[in-house]
Amino acid sequence: MSLLSIMRLSKAYGGVAALRDASLEVDAGEVHALVGENGAGKSTLIKILAGAVKADASEIAVNGLPVSIASTRDAHRLGLRFLHQELNVLPRLSVAENLFLGHSYPTRFAGLIDWPALHERARGALAKLGVADIAPGTILGRLPTGDQMIVKIASTFLEDGSESGRIFVMDEPTAALSSKEVERLFRIMGELKRAGGAIIYVSHRLDEVLRISDRITVLRDGASEPPVPTSRATRALLIKRMTGRAGLGAAATARNPSRLLVALTVQGLTGNGLSDISFEAREGEILGVAGVGEAGGDRLLKCLMGGARRGDISIAGRRTRLRSPWEAWRQGLAYVPGERRSEGLFLSQDIVRNVTLPHLGRLARLRALVNRPAELAQTATVARRVRLRATGPRQKVWRLSGGNQQKVMFGRAVAGAPRVLLLDEPTRGVDIAAKFDIHALLREMADAGAAILIASSDHEELLALCSRIMILKDRRISRIVPARGLTPAELLALCYGGVTE
Ligand SMILES: Nc1ncnc2c1ncn2[C@@H]1O[C@H](COP(=O)(O)OP(=O)(O)OP(=O)(O)O)[C@@H](O)[C@H]1O
Ligand SMILES: [Mg+2]
Repeated sequence: MSLLSIMRLSKAYGGVAALRDASLEVDAGEVHALVGENGAGKSTLIKILAGAVKADASEIAVNGLPVSIASTRDAHRLGLRFLHQELNVLPRLSVAENLFLGHSYPTRFAGLIDWPALHERARGALAKLGVADIAPGTILGRLPTGDQMIVKIASTFLEDGSESGRIFVMDEPTAALSSKEVERLFRIMGELKRAGGAIIYVSHRLDEVLRISDRITVLRDGASEPPVPTSRATRALLIKRMTGRAGLGAAATARNPSRLLVALTVQGLTGNGLSDISFEAREGEILGVAGVGEAGGDRLLKCLMGGARRGDISIAGRRTRLRSPWEAWRQGLAYVPGERRSEGLFLSQDIVRNVTLPHLGRLARLRALVNRPAELAQTATVARRVRLRATGPRQKVWRLSGGNQQKVMFGRAVAGAPRVLLLDEPTRGVDIAAKFDIHALLREMADAGAAILIASSDHEELLALCSRIMILKDRRISRIVPARGLTPAELLALCYGGVTE
């Protein structure tokens, strides 16, 4: 008998089906992966399980007994624990306060919060994950995303008692983690399994899915197929089932830029925690930025977008003063930030607005005179290029699936045909077919003369795209190496400071 059985699950949003008669059965002691393209319905299934979204039809049973999940409390009572795709954290509160969100705080007499006890329990919860370097009193927003994620994971495991019979549901937990943190999470998952718990694991990283899961259920357009045992699954099989495409073609390898003109010169850039950064990127070049943990790829890009205190930036040989992101956009820089919900998107606005906002100046001089047909046409072109899945250009961004939100942010950056494109984890949460198309688009833009800087923790992505890779260490450039012939393992060794020539 399955620990959790979901049958005939259906859900439509305003006539558009997100789930059609989908099924998922999960056994105790297994990691069950749920995979599918952006918009396939994975998060919707999870939100229904969490009691956050009401299904149109469902048959759910836990330990063979039919249950109904009408609220988050029902879900919790049934032993379901969630790690949602978008981090729901309160960045202004401390690590300990975030850990105990939704749990009761330890109190002293008169109901006063017992802070030392709270911090002690927070330390204990983190220690369970083998984490000793996150102080409970730190303001969460000051931590890197990976650490914020770890705090969120720790809060899922909080509470005393056994983990057996619990069902942990993780929606793309590794999307913002470094490889070291991923290993840490996988170790914890192994322990949960051994204790008799079950894990539903949603991810676009098929190599991780093949490594960590016991069975895999594929969702396609909201419908499911019977699960495949992982021992019999391959990457090609999963891609075929997810997309209906037989293959994605051979991944092109990185090329050297064909042009000699320098698109971007950076001299002695200092600020935003970085010191003395100098490098050049040529027109047509895709330059990678790598480093482990808090090395500073994201900081470097922000610094270029108007966040520098000192240093010179020249674009196409012309020195420019960039004091704000707006100025940077105007000078031909475009930027995809790493945190789509807090830094990148206007969630309550529609797709058109989000894609065209930084380019309004180009489309019409005055905002009052915004050229609507031009906006729409530009959005439609970009949407097609990134395989955006939406009901139309006027759909509100908060209604899109996570990966499709990421594509909107990417679409905005490429829409203005920038000279220099700065990308922070551009394919985070994007499905494998769309990622392939985005990579093709980047190569095309480079061939047309754009210089592209891409910071990514996905080393395979860097090696597939870049001609050179800048290694950041302790917030300085430790070296810039040619990518050709480098393996992911060698790149990782370089990031850790090992010598691999
Ligand atoms: N609140 C909503 N209103 C309207 N449509 C929605 C809403 N939430 C989800 N959808 C739609 O339902 C479909 C499934 O979305 P879902 O978030 O489940 O996809 P997903 O498989 O998690 O994708 P991703 O890999 O991008 O996270 C999408 O077409 C999405 O636009
Ligand atoms: Mg999702």
